[in-house]
Amino acid sequence: MPNAKLEGFYKDSERYPSAMVNVTNHCNLSCRHCFIFREGNPNEVPLSIRDEMADDAMLLTLKELRDRHGIKSMMWMGGEPMLRNKLLRKGIKLFKSNTITTNGTVPLIDFGPDLLYVISLDGPEEYNDSIRGEGVFRKVIKNLEGLPEGFKSPFQVQSVVTKFNQHMLEELVIQLMETPVRWMTFSFLVPTAGGESSPDAWQTNEEREEAVRIVMSLKEKYPGFVRNTGRSLELMLSPYAERVTNACLARANILPLYLEGDHFTTPFCCYGNDVDCSRCGAWAVFHIAAKQERNGVVSWEE
Ligand SMILES: C[S@@+](CC[C@H](N)C(=O)[O-])C[C@H]1O[C@@H](n2cnc3c(N)ncnc32)[C@H](O)[C@@H]1O
Ligand code: SF4
Ligand code: SF4
Repeated sequence: MPNAKLEGFYKDSERYPSAMVNVTNHCNLSCRHCFIFREGNPNEVPLSIRDEMADDAMLLTLKELRDRHGIKSMMWMGGEPMLRNKLLRKGIKLFKSNTITTNGTVPLIDFGPDLLYVISLDGPEEYNDSIRGEGVFRKVIKNLEGLPEGFKSPFQVQSVVTKFNQHMLEELVIQLMETPVRWMTFSFLVPTAGGESSPDAWQTNEEREEAVRIVMSLKEKYPGFVRNTGRSLELMLSPYAERVTNACLARANILPLYLEGDHFTTPFCCYGNDVDCSRCGAWAVFHIAAKQERNGVVSWEE
């Protein structure tokens, strides 16, 4: 397939029920924790989006990858995917299930009830804006408040928990409950292998435990609003966390497609190349782990 180079762990012969695709490396924000723009990741940004892979070539490549790997569910990402909304309109028709993860600053489009928007906000207004940019929180909420009556695509918020915002999460929940947002999930930072100096990263999973317990208590207090499952959070604690990340089911189930010039390439995992698996807190990893356990496919007990 000329426009898709599968590397390392990812094989032409494998089946992947899900995939994530960066449809553009352009972004109108520059968030402090963003893994996309880390050194060593495929993230080249040409001057114009028009110089990235053309819509037709991308759609054809995604269709071929869908058929070869049995991809049912597509997570549309970037950069900021809504900057290529014409492509998304056609792309979502290729897959049974679709999620667009967006920074929410670009107006949402009604793609119907089967499309889920995941909108990223990383803390209450002041903290979010310190990481995502001045005025971003208000802009996102204004966009959501301005959605026309009868807007069919459901939306949720996703917030990345870090060492820096772990004590502000309830404030975020309270702020969001006063907006059109009806539910949210917490993901946890995926640090670089050498990211010890980052103010956002915990040094160890033991140090992260307090943050996980904070989210567990929010789940108990606001069960309908916080959608992480109890077991997926429990799996982030000792002794489970490293058992789960050592056998990362996200890597086995989700094909990551990063844009590199005129083709896609597969990095180490959805979070790129320079990642510390032992401290990974990605929502998907623990969500899939809990789900597969529930279905009797794996056990995380010894
Ligand atoms: C890379 S962004 C791309 C889509 C869109 N621009 C957005 O911000 O939602 C996808 C998601 O990854 C999250 N993210 C960024 N850096 C992260 C990190 N180091 N660890 C965990 N999640 C991260 C973002 O907050 C966002 O929810
Ligand atoms: S908006 Fe998304 S892609 Fe853009 S810098 Fe922020 S996290 Fe990264
Ligand atoms: S960083 Fe997380 S998602 Fe990536 S392979 Fe490691 S455990 Fe899996």
